[in-house]
Parts: sequence; C-alpha cells; structure tokens
Amino acid sequence: MALDPIDTSQPHPARMYDYYLGGKDSYPVDEDAAERVISFLPAIRVAARTNRKFMSRAARLLADRGVYQFLDIGTGIPTEPNLHQVVQAINPQSRVVYVDNDPIVLRHAEALLQSTSEGATKYIEADVREPEKIIEEAKEILNFEKPVALSLVALLHFVSDEYRPYDLVNELLAPLPSDSFLTLSHVTGDFDAAGWEKAVEIYRKNGVPAQVRSRDEFAGFFTGLDLIEPGVQVVTQWHPEPDQEFNDERVPLYVGVAQKP
Ligand SMILES: C[S@@+](CC[C@H](N)C(=O)[O-])C[C@H]1O[C@@H](n2cnc3c(N)ncnc32)[C@H](O)[C@@H]1O
Repeated sequence: MALDPIDTSQPHPARMYDYYLGGKDSYPVDEDAAERVISFLPAIRVAARTNRKFMSRAARLLADRGVYQFLDIGTGIPTEPNLHQVVQAINPQSRVVYVDNDPIVLRHAEALLQSTSEGATKYIEADVREPEKIIEEAKEILNFEKPVALSLVALLHFVSDEYRPYDLVNELLAPLPSDSFLTLSHVTGDFDAAGWEKAVEIYRKNGVPAQVRSRDEFAGFFTGLDLIEPGVQVVTQWHPEPDQEFNDERVPLYVGVAQKP
C-alpha cells in the first residue's frame, strides 16, 4: 500500500492557516501548534482572515483592469472563494495556475480545478524555491506574451533570507512581460516583536524556515516595480471595503500590488 504523503507527526503551515481561518482541514498536531501561537499572538487570526479577503480584493482589482492570467504560489488549502472563482466571475476566460509544496493542498486540488469551460486552471506541486520548474509548467496554460499576475500571498514569510527570497521573486518575474503584476502579503513583527519571535520559533522548530519582515524589508520586494495606489499598507488600509469586519491599523500584515514597467 502506498504511504500516505500527509504527515500528521508535525504541524504544517497550510493546515495551521486553515485552522486560523476556522477551516476543518487540520490535525490535532496543527491545532495544538496554532493554539500556542494564538495564545500569545491573538492577532494572527485577524491577520489570516484579513489576508484571505485581501487575496480576493487584489485579484478582483487586477481582473477589473483586464488581467486574465494568474500564477498563484503558496495557494493553501482551498477556501471559497478561491482565486479562480473570484476572477472567472469577472472574466470567465481567466486562466489560473496554482502552486503549493504541501501534499494536503494536492489532496484537495480538485476544488481548484473546477474551471469555467472558457477559462482554465492547473495545479503544480512545487516549492517556490524551484522557480524554473514553476515557470516551465505554468507555460502549459499561461501565455507569457500577455501580462500575468504573480501572487505570493502570505508565502514569503516562509522563505528565510538564506533561501534568497528577493532573488526568487526576481527570477519568477523575469520571464513575465511588461505590465505584469506582483501581489504580495507578508506578516510583520513591527507591532509586536516579542510575540512574533515566539511564533517564528514554533514554525522553525517544525522545519519551516519562517521569518517576519519590517515594512522596509517588505517594500524591498517591489524594487524596480511601480506600486499601485495606495502603495505598501497594513492589510486593512489597502482598498478597504466599506463594510469590512476589521479596521485595526496594526494588523500585523503588510500588503501591496505593483506593476512591472
Ligand atoms: C499562510 S498560507 C497562504 C495561503 C493563501 N495564499 C492565502 O493567502 O490564503 C501559506 C501557503 O504557502 C505554502 N508554502 C509554504 N512554504 C512554501 C514553499 N516553500 N513553496 C511553496 N509553497 C509553500 C503552504 O503550504 C501554505 O499553503
């Protein structure tokens, strides 16, 4: 019998995030770790929820501007609305490539593949630290002669500096044409350094190369690109929705969207 690829002996980021969001796809080991983080960093739940809303808001904004191709790395366990549902509601011809390195996401990938008949979706099991593989496989459904929105939403805090995250972003952007976009969100220790130090330790102890970044370090990912208004912001301040649940200006998550010149 094939070995189950789902490792339930240690917590995984995708499953802990699902727990923060109130989902059902976590195991006791994830729930224990997530509860420990929540105990000294209750804001992480708000960060997760507002992050997921940001993913939709940013995708909608780009789809409204005519972007119909999306490369989403660090997709997470499907949570409605998924990116393709957001953008295909605006343009049914939208094409979305999802990428994650956690086998739990692959197990649920069916939900990510329910494309409109006019559009297309694809799932790639890969690590963001393998940009060449991702680009090669993404080309199967994306046309790199036309703008692509690259989204790394709540991903880069799982890539510590030793893995050259700034270079990785550049390597992923390099093959994309002018007028492509980069959508990013990232947790920060700027408002509670001690709490985040403990949270990072929990992730690192479980083999995840986590690292929080300051506002300036986050803004550095957009070097050479044109940030769209209102630039780098705390998530609740970026194109806020009139009826949004949280308005706190110190939610520990920075976001931004920029265009490649
Ligand atoms: C916090 S979740 C964010 C999910 C989704 N992007 C969202 O914002 O709702 C981070 C995701 O990144 C994935 N991930 C972490 N490190 C990764 C890596 N090195 N390569 C690819 N995916 C990674 C995790 O498995 C998880 O699904």
